[in-house]
Amino acid sequence: MAESEQAGTRTRPRRGEEFELEVETLVYGGRGLGRRNGFVVFVDGGLPGDRVLARVSKSKKGYAEASTVELIERASSRLPDEDVHDGEPCPGAPWQALPYDRQLAFKAEQVADALSRIGRLEDFELEPITAADALWRYRNKVEYSFGEQAGETVLGFRPRGRWDEVLEIEDCLLSPEATNRARNELLGWARGEGIPPFDPRTGEGVLRNLVVRESFGTGQVQTRLVTSPARISKPPVDLHTVVEGPGGGTIGPTGVIGDEFLIERVSGLEIRLSHESFFQTNTTMAEVLYGTVREFLGDTGGVRLFDLFCGAGTIGLVLADLFDEVVGLEIVPDAVANAEWNARANGIRNARFVEADTRTGLRPLIAEVGKPNVVVVDPPRAGLSAKVTRRLIECEADRIVYVSCNPTTLAPNAAQLVEAGYRLVRVRPVDMFPQTPHIECVALFVRDGAGGIGDGA
Ligand SMILES: C[S@@+](CC[C@H](N)C(=O)[O-])C[C@H]1O[C@@H](n2cnc3c(N)ncnc32)[C@H](O)[C@@H]1O
Repeated sequence: MAESEQAGTRTRPRRGEEFELEVETLVYGGRGLGRRNGFVVFVDGGLPGDRVLARVSKSKKGYAEASTVELIERASSRLPDEDVHDGEPCPGAPWQALPYDRQLAFKAEQVADALSRIGRLEDFELEPITAADALWRYRNKVEYSFGEQAGETVLGFRPRGRWDEVLEIEDCLLSPEATNRARNELLGWARGEGIPPFDPRTGEGVLRNLVVRESFGTGQVQTRLVTSPARISKPPVDLHTVVEGPGGGTIGPTGVIGDEFLIERVSGLEIRLSHESFFQTNTTMAEVLYGTVREFLGDTGGVRLFDLFCGAGTIGLVLADLFDEVVGLEIVPDAVANAEWNARANGIRNARFVEADTRTGLRPLIAEVGKPNVVVVDPPRAGLSAKVTRRLIECEADRIVYVSCNPTTLAPNAAQLVEAGYRLVRVRPVDMFPQTPHIECVALFVRDGAGGIGDGA
């Protein structure tokens, strides 16, 4: 078929083509949806009601992808520039011009849409989304990239889809002031030392990333510099990671210069985190999230809890008083070590943690300790594979609480659980990431015929 593929009145746009587009709504991932002669176009950088000049980057059979070249007409619902930090766009905050109540409404809609369209699930209670307590400066972890602009070393963020560019930023409005100060100090040191930034196009240069983690509970700021292998003077950071090769990763052999661990406080616990251990990026909303999990468990009559994908053990430890026994499963060794330390440091004696892949570790765990009557799962964005979901079903838990950071992967997992005899009772989105399209939600599944267990309502 010719470049301009015809399907009725719908004309498939070509790659590189530019045209005006009215953004109708937002879809999962935060892109705008518009139509060009009936043909669906997903556009980056537009908000509902905007008219933008869009340039097509990909043209597929059923839809095209585009980026915004220019905002031609602003949506009436857009916040005035002066309300959005003097019109200064904050990288990493693509929804900053969208009023917060609309951000919440879009997130709630996307959870409903994923569960009904992908999971074909209707018969459950979608509860109102819990709003975040702080709309700015809530992030406890930021990963900056080094780059070069006009011959000077800069430290900032790579714009979406631009692996070879860095946008300089002195004050990231999503992170607290102390994190920004740590970034500015390290940049000053790097410029003073004259160490060249790493260039991903050539593979030359040394300075790659600065990762800053800040404890909201103790105020501790932990810095980790990521470089290529090179002889440099001792950097003024807590940790120094050396990464070889052209990739953009930040994981590698790490030397300890200052504080090895970040000490955080969450839900009444003091927890220790290694740099490789996951922790929810919004500490105060993590408490709200864990509180929601606890609320959904209701009166479990709990004997044994499995905390799958447990990270540093926080969810299992927060719930430990409800159970005789808690067992956490996690693939990252340092996180498992943290979880064990966290149990001991908080005087929790009925929790233990196992280093294993959920895919292969669940059956042996059941063989060793028996089946759980409650399971909490909190997988990464990709959700559970069909096989892991089958392993989860084999646990025959009366109740499963699923913490999801991606409703489009929760939906097929939920459908598989329902097919296997679970009932999806309630789902509550919790906003952990204001100004961004990221969505977190908690879902409660109850096994049909589970004795003596209510709906946690
Ligand atoms: C979204 S985090 C949840 C962490 C924890 N529940 C919390 O609230 O801090 C997902 C965790 O799953 C772990 N993980 C990823 N793949 C895994 C696998 N195949 N088996 C076990 N754990 C895995 C990651 O290391 C990470 O700690």
